[in-house]
Amino acid sequence: MNSYVLDVRKLKVDYATSMKTIQAVKGISFSIQKGETLGLIGESGSGKTTTAMAILRLLQNPGRVVGGEVILNSDIDLLTLSERELRKVRWTELALITQGSMNSLNPTMRVCEQIADGILAHKEMNDKNELNEYIKNLLKLVGLPERVFNQFPHELSGGMKQRVCIAMAASLNPSLLIADEPTSALDVITQRIVAQTLLDIKERLNTSLLIIGHDIGLMAQMADRVAVMIDGFIVEVGTMQEVLSSPEHQYTQILVDSMPSIKRRKPLTAIDERTRSEISNKLCVSSEMTEVTTGHWVAVN
Ligand SMILES: Nc1ncnc2c1ncn2[C@@H]1O[C@H](COP(=O)(O)OP(=O)(O)OP(=O)(O)O)[C@@H](O)[C@H]1O
Ligand SMILES: [Mg+2]
Repeated sequence: MNSYVLDVRKLKVDYATSMKTIQAVKGISFSIQKGETLGLIGESGSGKTTTAMAILRLLQNPGRVVGGEVILNSDIDLLTLSERELRKVRWTELALITQGSMNSLNPTMRVCEQIADGILAHKEMNDKNELNEYIKNLLKLVGLPERVFNQFPHELSGGMKQRVCIAMAASLNPSLLIADEPTSALDVITQRIVAQTLLDIKERLNTSLLIIGHDIGLMAQMADRVAVMIDGFIVEVGTMQEVLSSPEHQYTQILVDSMPSIKRRKPLTAIDERTRSEISNKLCVSSEMTEVTTGHWVAVN
């Protein structure tokens, strides 16, 4: 039997604004097995961050989960927990590296104080020396030099700040790390370093990873499986290799085709608005997924 760390079933999220209700996530389902890295990829506005926030119940008004289940460790439905019960699983079972998290570090606090705050909010650690050692080890784990312990965020580069955020998220050894575009706004070399840091952490701590992003090339190097999202729907799920070598859904085909090749110069392809709305119009809340080969699913209309 598969042991799922996370099983998302028919999740729906709306933003009910005064103007209109935006259906940001329209009944998506996916699961993550123990030790697995799942990539969630899709264009801007497709609902990736909304999905992550809904899983952790961190949606802000007017965001609201209007349907579905989020089952943790084949056991608890996160959507039914009280705020108190939720606090117990956040960080210890599920931790989030938010989109743009490196800019959310408190500029007035030293790195050690910020990491300590997070740890102490969830775990008792009365021995100051023990806590400091624990934090130094965490910094080492993400490849940062010891001096970072006493530094302020403005003294660090973007890549270093991002690694501090990874250290914070990993500090209580969660079963699942969710990283929302952890490498955007970094140069390509630093992107690779940060991506590798995440993979190293995942291996060392034996956690699962949900990685959200746009960069299919980077995703190909990180994820075991990938889920492709457009307009609030997941349209294809499969192993990275299957989805790259035989994309089934029209949107995935366009996405894969947009990857540049160093062997062959080809015109830059973009999805035109007409094709995009044709794809969106075909998808509807009753869209089902069908299995094309074992474990490779595609949306049918
Ligand atoms: N607070 C909000 N109020 C109203 N609509 C919102 C709000 N937050 C997000 N949305 C809408 O929900 C949809 C999904 O947004 P979301 O941020 O989840 O996309 P995303 O896939 O993470 O995009 P990106 O790749 O740019 O980060 C978009 O149409 C967005 O406009
Ligand atoms: Mg986002």
